[in-house]
Amino acid sequence: MTGLTLKNIKKAYGETEVIHGVDLDIDQGEFIVFVGPSGCGKSTLLRMIAGLEDITSGDLSIENAVVNDMPAAMRGIAMVFQTYALYPHMTVYDNMAFAMRIAKEPKDEIDRRVNEAAEMLQLTPYLGRLPKALSGGQRQRVAIGRAIVRHPKVFLFDEPLSNLDAALRVQTRIEIANLKEQMPETTMIYVTHDQVEAMTLADRIVVLSAGRIEQVGTPLELYTDPANVFVAKFIGSPAMNMMKGTMSATGEVSKVLVENQQAIEVPIKSDETLNGDNLHIGVRPEDFRLAEGGDPVLAEGKVLFVESLGEVTLLHIRVENHEEAIVAKLPGIMDLHKGEHIKLSANMEKVHLFDSKEISLKHR
Ligand SMILES: Nc1ncnc2c1ncn2[C@@H]1O[C@H](COP(=O)(O)OP(=O)(O)OP(=O)(O)O)[C@@H](O)[C@H]1O
Ligand SMILES: [Mg+2]
Repeated sequence: MTGLTLKNIKKAYGETEVIHGVDLDIDQGEFIVFVGPSGCGKSTLLRMIAGLEDITSGDLSIENAVVNDMPAAMRGIAMVFQTYALYPHMTVYDNMAFAMRIAKEPKDEIDRRVNEAAEMLQLTPYLGRLPKALSGGQRQRVAIGRAIVRHPKVFLFDEPLSNLDAALRVQTRIEIANLKEQMPETTMIYVTHDQVEAMTLADRIVVLSAGRIEQVGTPLELYTDPANVFVAKFIGSPAMNMMKGTMSATGEVSKVLVENQQAIEVPIKSDETLNGDNLHIGVRPEDFRLAEGGDPVLAEGKVLFVESLGEVTLLHIRVENHEEAIVAKLPGIMDLHKGEHIKLSANMEKVHLFDSKEISLKHR
């Protein structure tokens, strides 16, 4: 069942269009994560869905009914923001009960829902406290609790954890994952800058750039099969390395001449119109390995620095004629040092190819 549909949604502020026609179908109960660089339109999209911002053109539907002109309060949508504005003079209980009291809900129903939300968010012991006596993470959970008691059909989160320190983020992230399990019927859209949050919470991730959708897919689809260079570099950390090359022969297997003049054969299908074209060759840091014997060398150069993290070693390598350093993530502890000259190869199954317009050959 469709929870939410965006059809050619556009947003302009005066003459300036900032959302350029977004199409998206979200199933009921799905957990969708929006990611993208600052200013790409994530908050604007959420605010249009919530009804806090007019939709310039296009249709927004909830359960198949167009709601463009429906007031925010009627949409059955709750939104949690980065900064939680709790009422400082009210207890946790009263903060959570506030909206239901305004709506003149019966007292026992308010009590039932506040206790249910507190239970879900592990806030029961704190119901009698004032916000100032809570940690940042607990306060953010109260803000979420305030939204839960309204039993929304759709739950919107705009970077709810970005004000929390690292440890609290991890803990609150796990609580949001639990929440998702306890509210399987509720559609959730979650905006974050955090790769781990996006990868671990999302059923599907929507990657946005400059007011447009670049790709929609499950976390692993985006990781293994990015549609273009933008998504390839945006998803995954450290980012995918990009090298240049030219197509020397097309077919079931693409033969590519890397910028260092090495020839590689990548098991990705290519059509003959690509013959001789410039390509971007993408390799994730974790897909590199040290070249041995007859291995084709994808990149070689001097080690700029070594980051030994124990479980992995990150090597930053200066490659000739290459602006950005190449990063390799090798398993375990490596006996390698700054200044050493090394050669990197990769499993060709894991290599990505993009055409001169930066589109993946698998998505042309
Ligand atoms: N009220 C407004 N008037 C004019 N332009 C606006 C307004 N609100 C947002 N914008 C512009 O719309 C674009 C999208 O902004 P938005 O806040 O949606 O970005 P975002 O993806 O949420 O960014 P961030 O990650 O920094 O929160 C930006 O270019 C922004 O400057
Ligand atoms: Mg924003």
